[in-house]
Amino acid sequence: MNFAELITKKKKGLSLNQAEIEYLIKGFISNEIKDYQMSAIAMAIYFQGMDAKETSFLTGEMIKSGKTYDLKGVTGFKADKHSTGGVGDKTSLIYAPLVASFGIKVAKLSGRGLGQTGGTIDKLESCPGWTGEISEAKFEEIVNKVGMSIISQSQDIVPADKKMYALRDVTGTVDSIPLIASSIMSKKLAIAGNGIILDVKMGSGAFMNTVDEATKLAQAMVEIGKNHHRNIAAMITDMDKPLGREIGNANEVREAYETLQGNGPADLNELTEEAVGITLLQAGIFKTLAEAKEAVREKIKNKVAAPILKQFVEAQGGDFSVIENFEKSFKVKNTIEIKADKSGYIRYIDTNKLGYLAMQIGAGRATKEESIDFAAGITLNKVSGEKVLAGDVVMTLKTNKAVSGEFTNQGKLTFEIVDKAFVEPVIIKVISDLDLK
Ligand code: URA
Repeated sequence: MNFAELITKKKKGLSLNQAEIEYLIKGFISNEIKDYQMSAIAMAIYFQGMDAKETSFLTGEMIKSGKTYDLKGVTGFKADKHSTGGVGDKTSLIYAPLVASFGIKVAKLSGRGLGQTGGTIDKLESCPGWTGEISEAKFEEIVNKVGMSIISQSQDIVPADKKMYALRDVTGTVDSIPLIASSIMSKKLAIAGNGIILDVKMGSGAFMNTVDEATKLAQAMVEIGKNHHRNIAAMITDMDKPLGREIGNANEVREAYETLQGNGPADLNELTEEAVGITLLQAGIFKTLAEAKEAVREKIKNKVAAPILKQFVEAQGGDFSVIENFEKSFKVKNTIEIKADKSGYIRYIDTNKLGYLAMQIGAGRATKEESIDFAAGITLNKVSGEKVLAGDVVMTLKTNKAVSGEFTNQGKLTFEIVDKAFVEPVIIKVISDLDLK
């Protein structure tokens, strides 16, 4: 095959066939295809796009570049959830135990946080001893026994994506829908499963800034999932405001645990009920979404899924008592309160900045090498839409770093106070073949 011809074909907006895409990925991995050639084709894809078939072939070839999990030893319906990443997003830690409480299995690969977004693996590591690096046999054993397990996305899963992403990052080709969709879905589909619910975030704290862009990405990912024989749906959800009241690590695990016991914030409840509800429909456990969501609310009311989160953490070596004794376990040197300078209703306007602030006070890392302070974090005393009086505390920063006026200045830039009450839904739309009435 002549690589220059492939570039020309894509440059003219023609579709590449499976054999051509196989050649592209195999050649890139073996270094037969050089970075400059791959950059040229990535740019051609950026401008010309890819149709659903091409995107699915690309995803399939990327998956074949690395390790996959067949989960042959796991019995029953296997469900998974993926979020494109947000600030304060601890939904997976609520979703998985709830789904498991219905007898559905959740075997999940998760990543670490970088920059303004947190990562599930970092959050769980706030329980001393917990590890996401366990053998495949142990992973399957825990999924069968507890109903859920989460492991770290290792280096050997989809190495083609790692290599391509590094190149896209420096060639202005990250924000191409087929390239993002195949990158995300290749890592999702590397693990066997039946149902997938995607949470595509949109807004200031997300990768996609508009509903239109988020919808296109969600549709591309749903098509890939269907072509790989998954029962898949996607929610487009609002990341113009952070999710829940806690941003950090240990404090997010605690908020997830509290939510499982009926003490969660409204937005987190709404999102989780929808995600779990859709999974229950995919698994055929309920006929309508209304019935499924009612059953989820019942599980939360009866607190039956909270012990599953604890059992899972302990099964992977973690000490969950630190979450149960949170105040004693996660002390910080400094607490900074940011107050309202007038009365009105809080509206968060820069979730991205809030995520970076959490990182700066120790809860995240700017580079992969940095370590995380599990006790550092932000508590939103007031969430979007909540009423405040002048002088009320809007948010509390907890940090072991030296207090800096800059932290307060940054925090104040993340919200405004408006005169009129407002309500903003978390779920903007759902893309699914299911009847969601
Ligand atoms: N996340 C991914 O995993 N890949 C992308 O291309 C963008 C976001």
